[in-house]
Amino acid sequence: MQVLEIASRKGGSGKTTLTGHLAVEAERQGIGPVAIMDIDPQGSLADWWNERQADTPSFVNTTLDTLEHDIDKLRKSGVRLLVIDTPPAITRAIRDVIRVSDMVLIPTRPSPHDLRAVAATVAMVEESGKPLVFVLNAATPRARITNEAIVALSQHGPLAPSIVHQRVDFASSMIDGRTVMEASTSSLAIAEIECLWKYLAIRLDIMPRLDDVLIVPGAGGGGAVRAVAQARLL
Ligand SMILES: Nc1ncnc2c1ncn2[C@@H]1O[C@H](COP(=O)(O)OP(=O)(O)OP(=O)(O)O)[C@@H](O)[C@H]1O
Ligand SMILES: [Mg+2]
Repeated sequence: MQVLEIASRKGGSGKTTLTGHLAVEAERQGIGPVAIMDIDPQGSLADWWNERQADTPSFVNTTLDTLEHDIDKLRKSGVRLLVIDTPPAITRAIRDVIRVSDMVLIPTRPSPHDLRAVAATVAMVEESGKPLVFVLNAATPRARITNEAIVALSQHGPLAPSIVHQRVDFASSMIDGRTVMEASTSSLAIAEIECLWKYLAIRLDIMPRLDDVLIVPGAGGGGAVRAVAQARLL
C-alpha cells in the first residue's frame, strides 16, 4: 500500500479538493481499493464523503494517536492506496502524517501569499527525508504569476506537469459528494486530474493490477479483446 499525504500549511490551497479527486481518479484507473482519511478537524473531506452515493473510495476514521495502527490494518486488508487530507497550520498533524507517508503532495495556488508560505511546508517534509511533489492549483490560464510560480516552485522540488486551473466545476461537483469526473462535462478539468494522477502513479510506482483491464471493442473482427489498462501503456 502506498500512502499519499496532501499537505500545505497554507489554508485553502486545494488539499481537500485534490484528496477527493485523486482518490476517485485512482479508483477509476484500476488502482483500488483506495481509502481516504481526514486528519483535519474542520472535517471537510468527511462531509464530502458523507454526501457521496458511490461506495468508493472508502473513508477510514482515524486520530493522530491511532494513525499508525489504523494504517497497519488497512495495509493488511489489501488497500493499495491511502490518500490523507491534512489541516492547514497544525504542524503536529502534518508532521505525524508525513512520518507514515510514502510521498507528500503540496498543492499551491500561484499567489504571492501561497508561494511565501510554501517554505514552511517544504521544511517539514525535507526534515523527514520523504519525497515531495508540488502541484499548482487554481491557476488562472495564461497569467504571468503562473509562470513565476512554476519557476519558484521548481527550485524547491519536482512540480507536477499537470497544472490544475481555477474552474468552478471543481467546487460545484463536490457539493453533492462527487468529483469533476463524475459530475462535470468539463473535459479540461477531467483531463487535468487524469494527468495529475498518472504522474503521481508513476512517482509512487503504483500501477493497475494486470487483471484490471479495458474492454477494447472492434478489434479482431468485431470481438472484444482484453487490454492492459491504459495507465500501464503510458
Ligand atoms: N482548482 C480549483 N478551481 C476552483 N475552485 C477550487 C479549486 N481548488 C479548490 N477550490 C475551492 O477553493 C476552496 C478551498 O479549497 P479546499 O477546501 O480544497 O482547500 P484546502 O487546502 O483543503 O483548505 P483548508 O486549508 O481550509 O483545509 C474550496 O471552496 C474549493 O472548492
Ligand atoms: Mg481542507
